[in-house]
Amino acid sequence: MADSLQVPQGFLAAVSDAVGPDHCLSDPDLKASYELDWTRRFGGPAIVVARPADTFEVAKVLAACSRFRVGVVPQGGNTGLVGGSVPRHGEAVLSLSRLNRVLSCDPEEGLIVAEAGTTLAAAQVAAASVRSELGIDIAARDSATLGGMVATNAGGVHVIRYGPMRARLGGVEVVLADGSVASRLSGLVKDNVGYDLAQIMAGSEGTLGVVTKVALHLVAVPLFRVTALVALRGTEHSSANPAAGVASVSKVAVSLALSLRRHVDGIDALELVYADGMALVREALALPAPSDPGADAWLLVEASGGQDPSDMLARAIEDATGVTEIAVADDAAGRARLWAYRERHTEAIATLGVPHKLDVTLPMKNFAEFAGAVSAEVSAALGGSDTRVILFGHVGDGNLHVNLIGPEPEDYRGDDAVFEMVIRRGGSISAEHGVGVAKLGFVSSARSAGDLTVMRRVKNALDPGGILNPGVLLPPVA
Ligand code: FAD
Ligand code: MLT
Ligand code: ZN
Repeated sequence: MADSLQVPQGFLAAVSDAVGPDHCLSDPDLKASYELDWTRRFGGPAIVVARPADTFEVAKVLAACSRFRVGVVPQGGNTGLVGGSVPRHGEAVLSLSRLNRVLSCDPEEGLIVAEAGTTLAAAQVAAASVRSELGIDIAARDSATLGGMVATNAGGVHVIRYGPMRARLGGVEVVLADGSVASRLSGLVKDNVGYDLAQIMAGSEGTLGVVTKVALHLVAVPLFRVTALVALRGTEHSSANPAAGVASVSKVAVSLALSLRRHVDGIDALELVYADGMALVREALALPAPSDPGADAWLLVEASGGQDPSDMLARAIEDATGVTEIAVADDAAGRARLWAYRERHTEAIATLGVPHKLDVTLPMKNFAEFAGAVSAEVSAALGGSDTRVILFGHVGDGNLHVNLIGPEPEDYRGDDAVFEMVIRRGGSISAEHGVGVAKLGFVSSARSAGDLTVMRRVKNALDPGGILNPGVLLPPVA
């Protein structure tokens, strides 16, 4: 591996040969935006940023990295939130941003095939042009790429209906560490001939290969879609005990989410925001109150299908405990207005400082208790220091986003406290963002020794020189 920023002789020339001098960036100003992650918590210098134009050029860059034993960080939209998309110790960055063509979009086969650097938004536009959708959506759609979403096995707001990225995959093309290319893009739903290349890549975080093309299954655009923002109040209101208030309204939200999941057909999204996050979004983005300004939390519900789900939804929500007001929209502009209160949490939180973004899943039965207890445990772990804890998330699948603002980027005491709480309660330390470098310290607690052995053997088989995203996902052997 290349030492810090010591560049092996001949390496830059090999990369320049591979991608052309205009796309082999070594000027610090040109490299800067590739060296810092979205949160501003992670990053480091790159010895070079290579911007290949196609699979062939990606293969040549990887062959050069292998030959010169230089670590390489694949990078898509650089919207990852766990520090896996940026260099740490002078690796090369391999940006997929120029591989951005949609290659085919076929409603009859129900399949879109696009290059890995295609943004989610561009793929959504292509799908819409044939009256189809992707069944996956995240707020970073304008920058996040299909390759990055495969590599992180992205989740998002439609997981409860269509599953995460791995469930949408119809195939991938991948360049392996030595520059060889493996491709299976057929999109056949039934195709049992051995190991599944796409599934091996899903969630591999750039450690097993570089995804260069992605095939995704399409779903039909529904005839009806309705969005409701439901204001909720818990039974406990005591400024002396805010934790009890959060636990209480979380219990109301979980109970409503479970009931909607069970009794309403076609639920696409069940998203939860709390009063402090709502106030922050409204202030940062100058948005009006959506409904009941004194609510403790809001559940955003979306349902769609061949029949109008409004009546069924209204009946299921109106009678539920803790509901105070409902704002409903069934047109695109109105729905976008309601979604803004939820989707814009990430950017509003980032206005407060560099966040520690902890993305966890809890069993539904432990969600409310965890949500109530987490702030106090973080504060205790940090010796009572002034830390803000802002919660929101995809309550329909037990996924809570725990955002800490206050601790220094390299202060892990609050992160560790949250992960310990999650493991004690039978949850996962990474619901959808991946491990990256942010959660490395907890992988060994979250996976059995047998699991880790399999992961290491797969890694060694596909990347024997250890050049692909070194230091990400797999903790060093003790
Ligand atoms: P990058 O950030 O560039 O990379 C992420 C990881 O994938 C890195 O380890 C990188 O090395 C690897 N990688 C990238 N491209 C490739 C490739 N072609 N081949 C191999 N490895 C590659 N995530 C969710 O899951 N759900 C959400 O709802 C969600 N919402 C978000 C909202 C906002 C506002 C933001 C900023 C982020 C959000 N994210 C969400 C996180 C992020 O968008 C996802 O992790 C996304 O999948 C990253 O895609 P990317 O192209 O930006 O990848
Ligand atoms: C979201 O659901 O909005 C994301 O996962 C991003 C975040 O956690 O901030
Ligand atoms: Zn999320």
